[in-house]
Amino acid sequence: MLRAPRGTKDILPPESHKWAYLESLLRRLSKLYNFEEIRTPIFEYTELFSRTVGESTDIVRKEMYTFQDKGGRDLTLRPEGTAPVARAFLERGLAQGALPKKLFYLGPMFRYEKPQAGRYREFVQYGVEILGSPSAYSDVEVILLAVRIAEELGLTGTVLYINTIGCPKCRQAHREDFVKHISSRAKQLCKDCLERLETNPMRILDCKNPACREAVADVPLVKDYLCDDCQEHWDTLQQLLESLGLEYTVDPTLVRGLDYYTKTVFELKWPPLGAQDAIIGGGRYDGLIEELGGKPCPGVGFAVGVERLLLAAEKGQKPLNPDVSIDCFVVFPGGGDRRLAQAGFKLVNDLRGSGLSSDFDPLGRSMKAQMKHADRLNARYVAILGEAEFEQGLVTIRSMEHGWQKQVSAGQVLDFMKEEVSGGSK
Ligand code: HAM
Repeated sequence: MLRAPRGTKDILPPESHKWAYLESLLRRLSKLYNFEEIRTPIFEYTELFSRTVGESTDIVRKEMYTFQDKGGRDLTLRPEGTAPVARAFLERGLAQGALPKKLFYLGPMFRYEKPQAGRYREFVQYGVEILGSPSAYSDVEVILLAVRIAEELGLTGTVLYINTIGCPKCRQAHREDFVKHISSRAKQLCKDCLERLETNPMRILDCKNPACREAVADVPLVKDYLCDDCQEHWDTLQQLLESLGLEYTVDPTLVRGLDYYTKTVFELKWPPLGAQDAIIGGGRYDGLIEELGGKPCPGVGFAVGVERLLLAAEKGQKPLNPDVSIDCFVVFPGGGDRRLAQAGFKLVNDLRGSGLSSDFDPLGRSMKAQMKHADRLNARYVAILGEAEFEQGLVTIRSMEHGWQKQVSAGQVLDFMKEEVSGGSK
C-alpha cells in the first residue's frame, strides 16, 4: 500500500472541521487588525531563500526541498512566507502604493526536518507582515495580534520572549568581541557551531546542544552594543509593552533561525506543548527589501504554525468545538413508489434551496438504518416522508436534540423548518 510521505498528513473529518474553524478565526482576527490577504506561489527561485533566510541557517543548509525543473531552473518549495511576500511587494510595485502595507497569508510551507509532534515536513503557517513602517508601534501591533490569537484559543500561561539583535552597524561592533569570547571556548562547540563561528557567529546562540549553550553562557550581548537608533527602538518597544500591561521576558539569547531579522525578535511560547513549544515567531526585517534589490523599506511580522496552534488548543482551556451538525436529514423509502422517492429527494433539494444543510440516503436502506445514519451525521432534525405521510400530504419532523415529533403539512414544511433551525420551539 502506498503511504503519504513522511512528515505529511491527511486532514480528515472531523479534524478538518477544526482546521476550518481555526482558519476562519485567523481570518476574522486579520480583518480586525486590518491585514489583507496575499497568496504567493508555493515554489520560488531557490535564490530568494538563500539570499534572505541566509546561507548559514539550518533552513537553507539542511531543510529546503530544492529541485531543478525541466527547464533547469533552481526552485524551492517555500520554507517560509516572509521572503515571498517581500519579493511580491517589490515585484508588484506595492512599495509605490499607500504604506504601510499590511498583509497576511495562510498556506503550506515545507521544511525537511525530523518529524515529531508539532513538527512536520509540510505544515501550514498563518503569518502577517507590515511593510513600510519603521515604528515600534508596528512591532507591538503584531505582538498584540500574536497574543490575541493565543487568548482566543484559551491558551493561558503563554510566555512572550523578546530580544533585540540590532542592525548590521551594531552587530559589526559586537561581532569582534563575541568571536573573541567564543573562540576561547571553541573546543566546547559542536561541528555546526565551529562552522557558524566562521560564517555567522551569532547563530551559535541558537544551538540547542548543551555544551554550546554553556559556551555562550556569559558571552557579550548585542543589546549592549546598540546604535542610538536601535537603542531608541528597543526602549520604545518595551515602554509600549509596559504601558499596555503586557508581560514579557527579555531573552538575550533569542536570535531566531533566519538571517533577515534586525532590531526586534520575539517568540510566543506555550510550555505545555513540550519540545516544540514556540507557537509564534517573528520580528523586524528592515534590510530585507533592500537585499532583494529594492529601495530601503522596513518591515515587521510573525508566523504561527497552524498544526501547533491546533495541538495547543486541544490541550488548552477551550478545546475547539466546531459545529459538525447538519440541519436536516430526510428519511424516505428508496424502493417502491417512485413518486414518493422523488418527493423525498425534492424535499432535500428544497431544504438546501432554503439555506438549510440537508442530506439523505442514496442507498435505499431501511427507514431504521436511515434514522441511524441521520444520527451519525449529527442531524438536528429528521424529516420523515413515509407512505402514510405521503398519502396525507404530511411530513413528520423529529427534533433529534429534544426528542419531540410533529406532523407538518407538506406545503408548510420549508417555513416550519426555517423557523425551527433559526431557533424555534423546544
Ligand atoms: P519560524 O520561527 O521559522 O519563522 O516559523 C514560525 C512558526 O512556524 C513556528 O513558531 C512554528 O509554529 C511553525 N513551524 C516552523 N517550522 C515548523 C515545522 N517543521 N512544523 C510545524 N510548524 C512549524 C518564520 O517562518 C518567519 N517567516 C516568521 C516571520 C514572519 N517573521 C517575520 N515575519
